[in-house]
Amino acid sequence: MNIIVSGASKGIGYEVALQAAESGHNVLAVARNAELLDLLVAKNELITALKVDLIEEECSQSIASWTNKVGKVEVLINNAGQLINKSFIETTVKDFKDQFNANIITAVKLTQAVIPFMNKSTHIVNISSMGGFQGSSKYSGLSAYSASKGGLSVLTECLSEELKEYGISVNALALGAVQTEMLENAFPGYSAPVSAEEMASYILDFALKGHQFYNGQILPVAIGNP
Ligand SMILES: NC(=O)c1ccc[n+]([C@@H]2O[C@H](COP(=O)([O-])OP(=O)(O)OC[C@H]3O[C@@H](n4cnc5c(N)ncnc54)[C@H](OP(=O)(O)O)[C@@H]3O)[C@@H](O)[C@H]2O)c1
Repeated sequence: MNIIVSGASKGIGYEVALQAAESGHNVLAVARNAELLDLLVAKNELITALKVDLIEEECSQSIASWTNKVGKVEVLINNAGQLINKSFIETTVKDFKDQFNANIITAVKLTQAVIPFMNKSTHIVNISSMGGFQGSSKYSGLSAYSASKGGLSVLTECLSEELKEYGISVNALALGAVQTEMLENAFPGYSAPVSAEEMASYILDFALKGHQFYNGQILPVAIGNP
């Protein structure tokens, strides 16, 4: 299959991209950090790097060149994201805008750029968070992050409705804590129950098969958070 993964320079996205290529899939790995992407590309010849800031830059041409070589995009995993950990009182409007840019606009821009290259069974998987899952426990300091992930979750429901006429499925996975740089920076010393490798394996499996069973769903993937 042909799979695009955003936020593939490190953490969960890196592992998803690597595991996908090791399973024989063509992968377009999207992120800003060219050096980290180069290290990933060196690991498997099925991986192509796309260095782009999804907030600031356009990527339609690059997507077109890649699909010209490999064919239609069968899976898009919108995994790129950022996290600001601050009390609501200290969180500025700019922080809110930055979080919405990083966690929603990145997915909006990449999805709009990729839609022309999707086929009738493409699966879009948006990587949301338990913080953005209605009814879950919430954590102090994550108001802007959680609100942005809640927006990504609802966007998933909206897109599944609009894109179903093209045969495109859209689901969101609302992840609980995963041991990555993002988590370590936000909560130093906290130990997550799941590694990036383990979560990536679940996400890849879901991205390849989940659309046969789900569409427009926001699925919690967490141990211990209702
Ligand atoms: N770790 C957790 O506990 C947890 C829990 C729930 C949800 N999640 C979600 O899971 C996803 C992956 O998280 P992670 O923990 O693996 O984080 P991470 O290690 O910080 O990785 C984030 C990735 O997003 C990329 N990225 C950020 N902004 C970008 C932009 N403007 N354009 C392109 N790429 C961008 C980063 O690459 P560059 O810096 O190279 O651009 C990086 O590859 C995120 O959406 C996160 O919110 C994580």
